Amino acid sequence: MTQQQQPDPPSHLVDLEPVGRRTRFSSGDFLFEAAQSAGVGLVSLCGGNGWCESCLIRVVEGEVSEPAFVEVDYIAADVLAAGFRLACQTYPESDIKIDIPPASLTTPPRLRVEG
Ligand code: FES
Repeated sequence: MTQQQQPDPPSHLVDLEPVGRRTRFSSGDFLFEAAQSAGVGLVSLCGGNGWCESCLIRVVEGEVSEPAFVEVDYIAADVLAAGFRLACQTYPESDIKIDIPPASLTTPPRLRVEG
């Protein structure tokens, strides 16, 4: 009996701004884990259950999953329309870029000085 190889799940690039990190991430896994895999800690007061809004991020480019019921319940429609989503309830469906507000980071971003 020969063993068939399973195809790798599709993966997407996730750019995390303003921290300047990038990670390749499996489709169907939440952005919260994508950030963690890139070494970026997001605040989570509810353990990823979608009711504390502490992991709020904004999708700047790319396609993501449709808003989950908890996002529709807890986030104002105009805020959702502006691209804000809960990282613990949202997964990428293409290469994406997200902006992480300082309040959602476990450690504040450090100022980068060049030149
Ligand atoms: S961790 Fe609480 S809403 Fe995402």
